[in-house]
Amino acid sequence: MTLQECINCGTRYPIDEIVYFCRKCGDILEIKLDFDIVNDILKKSGWRKIPLSVWRYRDLMPIGDSSKIVTLNEGGTGLHKCNRLGKKLGLRHLYVKNEGENPTGSFKDRGMTVGVTKALELGAKSVICASTGNTSASLAAYAARAGIQCAVLIPSGKIAYGKLAQAIIYGSKVIQVRGNFDQALEIVLELSEKHRSIYLLNSINPFRIEGQKSLGYEICEQLDNHPPDRLIVPVGNAGNISAIWKGFSEFHRLGFVKSLPKMTGIQAEGAAPIARAIKTGSKKINPIIKPETVATAIRIGAPVSWKKAVNAIRDSGGTAETVTDEEILEAQKMLSRLEGLFVEPASASSIAGLKKLVENCEVDKDERIVCVTTGHGLKDPDVAVRTSEKPLEVDAEVEAIERVLGLKKVVSATV
Ligand SMILES: Cc1ncc(COP(=O)(O)O)c(C=O)c1O
Ligand SMILES: [Zn+2]
Repeated sequence: MTLQECINCGTRYPIDEIVYFCRKCGDILEIKLDFDIVNDILKKSGWRKIPLSVWRYRDLMPIGDSSKIVTLNEGGTGLHKCNRLGKKLGLRHLYVKNEGENPTGSFKDRGMTVGVTKALELGAKSVICASTGNTSASLAAYAARAGIQCAVLIPSGKIAYGKLAQAIIYGSKVIQVRGNFDQALEIVLELSEKHRSIYLLNSINPFRIEGQKSLGYEICEQLDNHPPDRLIVPVGNAGNISAIWKGFSEFHRLGFVKSLPKMTGIQAEGAAPIARAIKTGSKKINPIIKPETVATAIRIGAPVSWKKAVNAIRDSGGTAETVTDEEILEAQKMLSRLEGLFVEPASASSIAGLKKLVENCEVDKDERIVCVTTGHGLKDPDVAVRTSEKPLEVDAEVEAIERVLGLKKVVSATV
């Protein structure tokens, strides 16, 4: 039977019980599939005929009632071979999995389609989350699609403008908290324990992780069932790296792939408790009280899924790295200009981290590498405009344009 299981003490909970933390030890939960049952279903279901998307993997999702699925067509994002960027970094096999191509512009939609479907199955009438921006945009959209109420808590003045616009327009109750993400998360955790009718959809909710694991499945399939040697992903609250690892591991367990990638997490220097724990070999993280970075999406000091992430990195033989804001912004421009992929600053940290790891000889030039870019560049237009050259302004005359384009004057022939 598919169950929820504590990642620390192994206590099990039924799949339809609303429980966010283990009642015995307080740790977080994960979904354990029953592989005997799943294997049988996969053999008969014809899943390979369904186009690449989260719901291609419906048989691997812990959802009972298909008629309740809340979807905006998530997943099926591009895996772009990046030859020009690869050459610049001295790499032969570089790919970017561009999650900005999801319905609300980030990977969060993979988790929300499953999470909000589960909310309906459980009979929830309202959902809530704390967010650095993308979670609120995504939850607000899926709650609207499902016709249920939604409240989102965001750190006041610290989320990118595009994300704020999304949360507002989808009609959720947007509450700006005078504090950071970690404080907002503590509040929604307490609220959802106190008011059981409000369903919590932060990434401690293991059903979110189930949706997000499809990112790993898709990469396997897009590479003809030969997973990359290394998977590089930005890390904030650490749900996504855990989810992607779960996806790869499940495909391995099902016998669809023979190898697993080295999971490599990148954090911003001012918000890097997991990277520091990995670098120092520590068993625990030291939360950062006042996290700071231009990459507001990963401005998180006390990542709730840190243990899952540390396990994923260590079990896979991967690593973690930190990057400065300058390195992030440089990588954002590089990816835009060399490959035509405009991603938000947090997403560019995977490219910045890769550059650093190559320079430090921690990555082999022959490795097959996939960098995940987690959110679309238009989420944060302010940073892009602020850090780029100002557009030229000229009079509305052909000569003026010729001048700025450096075009020679053409003398027209007279008859
Ligand atoms: C664009 C972007 N990248 C990365 C992350 C980090 O993901 P996680 O919190 O699952 O580690 C987030 C989370 O909000 C995000 O919005
Ligand atoms: Zn436990």
